[in-house]
Amino acid sequence: MIGNMHEKRVFGTKNQDTLVELYAKYVSEPKASFFRQIGLGVIQAKREGIKIHMLEGKDGNEPLELIDCHTSGGVFNLGHHHPEINKALKEGLELGLDIGDHHLLSEQRALLAKQLADLLPGKISKTMFSVGGGEAIDLAIKLSRAFTKRRKIISAKRAYHGVTGFALGACAPSFKDPFFWDSSDFVQVPFADIDALRNTIDEETACVLFETIPATGGILIPPEGYFSEVRELCNEKNVMMIADEVQAGLGRTGKMWAINGGLYPTEKVVPDIIVLAKGMSAGVYPLSTTSYIPELEAVFEEDPFLHISTTGGSELGCYVTREMLNIISKPLFLDHVKKMGKIFGNGLKHLHDEFSVQIKEVRGRGLMWGIEFIDEFTSLYFVLSSVRNGVFCDYCGNHKATSKFLPPLIISESQIHEILTRITTALKNL
Ligand SMILES: Cc1ncc(COP(=O)(O)O)c(C=O)c1O
Repeated sequence: MIGNMHEKRVFGTKNQDTLVELYAKYVSEPKASFFRQIGLGVIQAKREGIKIHMLEGKDGNEPLELIDCHTSGGVFNLGHHHPEINKALKEGLELGLDIGDHHLLSEQRALLAKQLADLLPGKISKTMFSVGGGEAIDLAIKLSRAFTKRRKIISAKRAYHGVTGFALGACAPSFKDPFFWDSSDFVQVPFADIDALRNTIDEETACVLFETIPATGGILIPPEGYFSEVRELCNEKNVMMIADEVQAGLGRTGKMWAINGGLYPTEKVVPDIIVLAKGMSAGVYPLSTTSYIPELEAVFEEDPFLHISTTGGSELGCYVTREMLNIISKPLFLDHVKKMGKIFGNGLKHLHDEFSVQIKEVRGRGLMWGIEFIDEFTSLYFVLSSVRNGVFCDYCGNHKATSKFLPPLIISESQIHEILTRITTALKNL
C-alpha cells in the first residue's frame, strides 16, 4: 500500500483541490498556478483508448472527458492501455524480466535491435538504448563528434530536442538561455533553408541535426527535395546526418519514417542516425533509441563502456516495445494511419476555408497537424476552447501561433469526425 492508501484505488484518493495543493507544495507551484489560472479541472484520472478523464469537474459540472490529441507528442500512439501492450507488460513481468543489468549482454535488447534494424532504412542497423529522447539525442551528437573528430553541431532555429546537455545545446535559445548554455559549437539555421545550411556547414561540422517535421517549432513541412539536399551536403562535407524522429517517426505520417517516404512518397532519404523516443514507450515503459550506421561503432572500439545508461533499454521495456513495433509495422496499420490522416487533414482544410479570418494555414502529414492562427492569442484561446469542448490539443512551444494535433494512431473515422465537430464549436466560441 502506498502512503495512507488502504483501499485499492489510484484516482480520487483525495479531492482535486487537495491534490492541486499537494502538487503546488511538493512538485511545482508555478505549474499548479498556470492550470489554476486557466480554470481547468486538471488532475488526470482514468484513461482508456483515445480518452483521458479528469478527476473532477469545475463548479459542480461533470469532469471533463478529453479526446487525446496531445498524446504527449506520440507517447500514446496506440492510445491508452492498448490491450496487447498491457498484456505484453504483464507477461514480461511474469516471465521474469526486470530492467536487467546494464553491463551484461541482453537477449531483449538484441531482439529489439534486430527488429528495428529490419524496419530502419538503408544501412542503419545498430541501436543503443536510453530512457528519454534528450538522452538519445545526446548520444547521437556524441557519436557524430567522436566519429568525425569535429565539434560543430548544426540544428534548426525553433528546434526542440530535449533538455539534457548536448540536446539542449541544439535547442532554440528560449530553452537554454536561462541556464547560460551558450557555445559557439552549436549553430542554428532556419529550417528548410538549404542556402543557409550550405553557407554554414563546413569541415568543422560533426553533424546536422533536424527534426523531420519540427513539432515545437510549428509543425513545419519542408519543400520536397530539401532533405535530399541536406543529405548531399552532408555527404560532400563528410558530416553525419541525424534525423530526430521522436515525434514524426513510428508510423505517425502513415509511413514508418517521416524522413524515408513519410514527408513525400518518392523522397526516401537515409540519414546516418535516427533517434526515437516517446512512442517507443508504448505509453507504459520509458525507452528511447539511437540507431546508426555500423561505421559509427568504431567510436566504442577502444572502450565498449564509453557510453552507458543504467536504466536505458530496460529488458521489460524492450519486451513491450517489441510488441508495439509488431503492431505499428503491419501494412494494414500504416494504411489506417494514412486513411485517417487524409480525413483529418481534409477536415482541417475545410475549417481553414470556413474560418479564414482566424486561420492562416493548416499543414501536416498523416496524423500530425498544425493550425497556424493569425496570432498567438487566437491560438492560445483556441486551445483552451478546444479543451473546454473535450479535445486535448496544445500549442507549439516555439511557435505559439500554431496549435498542434497528434491524435492516437488507432483513432477511428467516427472519432475523427467527433474531433472535427468539437473543434468547429471551439472555433465558433473563440
Ligand atoms: C522532437 C523531439 N526530440 C526530442 C525530445 C526529447 O524527448 P524527452 O522529453 O523524452 O527527453 C522531444 C520531446 O518533446 C521532441 O519533441
